[in-house]
Amino acid sequence: MHDDRWKEGDVVALKALGAPPLLVPLARGPIRLGHDGVIDLTSQIGSAPGEAVEWLGRSYRVVRPSLADLFSTLRRGAQIITPKDAVQLMFLAGVAPGNHVAEAGSGSGALTIALAHTVGAAGRVTSFDRRRDFLDAARENVTRAGFSDRVTFRERDVARDGIDLTDVSSIVLDLPEPWAVLESARAALVRGGYVATYTPTYNQLERTVQALRSLGYDEVRAVELLERGLHVGDGGTRPAFEMLGHTGFLASGRRLD
Ligand SMILES: C[S@@+](CC[C@H](N)C(=O)[O-])C[C@H]1O[C@@H](n2cnc3c(N)ncnc32)[C@H](O)[C@@H]1O
Repeated sequence: MHDDRWKEGDVVALKALGAPPLLVPLARGPIRLGHDGVIDLTSQIGSAPGEAVEWLGRSYRVVRPSLADLFSTLRRGAQIITPKDAVQLMFLAGVAPGNHVAEAGSGSGALTIALAHTVGAAGRVTSFDRRRDFLDAARENVTRAGFSDRVTFRERDVARDGIDLTDVSSIVLDLPEPWAVLESARAALVRGGYVATYTPTYNQLERTVQALRSLGYDEVRAVELLERGLHVGDGGTRPAFEMLGHTGFLASGRRLD
């Protein structure tokens, strides 16, 4: 059976009722936590998730960080993918535990974290970006999430130089010119593997889908997701007035040839 007990180096989330999560890497001895002070979580090493700890007069549970916890604590640089689009991209790209997945660009590493969370400890993510400053920002976020051992960052312009990998299960592209990457992406994918793309405009989507078709990808799809929050009251339940009207369009295709 899978051993769920905490090990040194695991990233834990400290959760107090109604408060945002605090992410902490488990270590022996006092750990600095934000500007507020230090906490000693040595006794958690070897314990199961869910135990209570007291810190600065407040009670916290030591829990495994959810993807929502990891997204909410990201340091943002480049425009990050929204949770709804990240999850649908992983569905379209067929991302599964144990897979080797490639993505470009790394940006702030939000999608990288979602991919690393899904492929799990036995999986791998290779994340490309042509800009070193974004690679550094993404690496910092991925390390804070506790996934640095399953992610490899590479500085490369994949539109110009292609994806130089083989036998990748899934490829996810969040960059302005995905069509320029689709030929090398096809060569990098295993047969049966998927590429999924995210672009903000119709023009980019159209060009991407045309390229997917002309390169012989199968199961070519295009989709947009709209998410509406709901106010749930006692007899007054209704949609929220505000809504995120537009994020991006998703497209995908499968290598079979
Ligand atoms: C919108 S950001 C990606 C955001 C990321 N998915 C996230 O959730 O944090 C786009 C990134 O693509 C990178 N990029 C653009 N064109 C590229 C190319 N041809 N090769 C590699 N990276 C590229 C940019 O430097 C930028 O970091």
